[in-house]
Amino acid sequence: MASYDVIIIGGGPGGYVCAIRCAQLGLKTACVEGRETLGGTCLNVGCIPSKALLHASHQLHEAEHNFAKMGLKGKSPSVDWKQMLAYKDEVIEGNTKGIEFLFKKNKVDWLKGWGSIPEAGKVKVGDETHEAKNIIIATGSEPASLKGVEVDEKIVVTSTGALELGKIPKKMVVIGAGVIGLELGSVYSRLGAEVTVIEYLDTITPGMDGEVQKSFQRILKKQGLEFILGAAVQKTEATKTKAKVTYELKKDDSEHTLDADTVLLATGRRPYTDGLGLDALGVEMTEQGQIKVGKDWQTSVKGIYAIGDAVPGPMLAHKAEDEGMAAAEQVAGKHGHVNYGVIPGVIYTHPEVANVGETEESLKDAGRAYKVGKFMFMGNGRAKANFAADGFVKILADKETDRILGAHIIGPSAGDLIHEVCVAMEFGASAEDLALTCHAHPTYSEAVREAALACGDGAIHA
Ligand code: NAI
Repeated sequence: MASYDVIIIGGGPGGYVCAIRCAQLGLKTACVEGRETLGGTCLNVGCIPSKALLHASHQLHEAEHNFAKMGLKGKSPSVDWKQMLAYKDEVIEGNTKGIEFLFKKNKVDWLKGWGSIPEAGKVKVGDETHEAKNIIIATGSEPASLKGVEVDEKIVVTSTGALELGKIPKKMVVIGAGVIGLELGSVYSRLGAEVTVIEYLDTITPGMDGEVQKSFQRILKKQGLEFILGAAVQKTEATKTKAKVTYELKKDDSEHTLDADTVLLATGRRPYTDGLGLDALGVEMTEQGQIKVGKDWQTSVKGIYAIGDAVPGPMLAHKAEDEGMAAAEQVAGKHGHVNYGVIPGVIYTHPEVANVGETEESLKDAGRAYKVGKFMFMGNGRAKANFAADGFVKILADKETDRILGAHIIGPSAGDLIHEVCVAMEFGASAEDLALTCHAHPTYSEAVREAALACGDGAIHA
């Protein structure tokens, strides 16, 4: 038995970042992880591997659609699926090994195995029980199930199975037009699959700015994805090689079916807290099965904290990381803080979609007076040169004070561009502050400045 200042349960982006920060703050730290590798869902079966496949399939798309226009002629590359998966696995290995190195460097002990909490102040891993002055739960989430849909991870898959399909499907049905469905749907569409996305709501990407939703759907449709909106999936029936998906259209209750080689279930994730022993400890939970926490990320049981997907808020790796650092500071007697109003969201399709802060819809609902500055990438020289002129930047600012309230970008490198606005928002900047900042030419980021200019006297290249 060992004794620690803090034991973190879970080695994903929330847990490993928290562990490193705890150690940096001088706390004797251990992190419990039952997988063979560190990094959690994000590094092993989520963010990172999906980005490798998005990158590879985008390169293929470029070769097929844009190379000839640039005078790059010759045979288009063909897909060696086994090699593409091997490349993805190599990327995963590089990243997970990197975390192992960081643990060693920062003197964080990795307790290998699945952890449980027999009582406050104790963490059990396998047959050993360790003492911990503080325990931080960072156990993440798992794919939510859907009634009537039985996942076998071969024909009917979640994001996990979708990252290692035996072959590229000819026909794929995606259930849910959220982040996972659209990112992985894009991958297989670019690799040649006929992809149909069935979505319960009448729009894709719920919660996103309405104008972005429409533009995004139009662009994805142009790329070949089909959408059936306002439709509830009732069931899937799978054989060893195929599946049939039954759905009901909400507008007239009519029932329809679609055949597919692969069905991807992407209707959200749920907190993963199984086996921790939270019930017996009396840790309070929300109705949605998340762990309730206070402003310092402490649960209803003193000395037990929780962060990331297991607690309320957006299920995003970077939100978990921020909570991990802040909780570490709280445990170390400092004042950790997360600004939940400035957490960007990114969809890594092509073009990328990124957002931060308020949407027009949320501002209207709150009855707030706002102005809109919008700039199309069509007016951005760099985007045009790179065949990436689809989309726009939209900045929302307070009508009176000009303070930036939100930003929505659909276009090239949107996931990187959004951070300029995030930093501005953290500093309470006005749209004019952004507009008065010199931006290098020719860059995509000029489009952000132009949108800021459009909040005032007008964009130049519009
Ligand atoms: P999501 O919540 O983003 O989207 C699920 C979609 O499924 C919703 O549009 C919902 O209306 C729809 N749906 C629910 N029930 C349905 C039914 N019976 N029939 C048809 N449609 C139905 O969930 P998703 O895409 O599974 O992602 C899970 C979590 O992982 C999210 O919180 C997401 O933010 C996170 N994630 C983030 C990524 C990123 O930041 N790039 C990448 C992948 C996941």
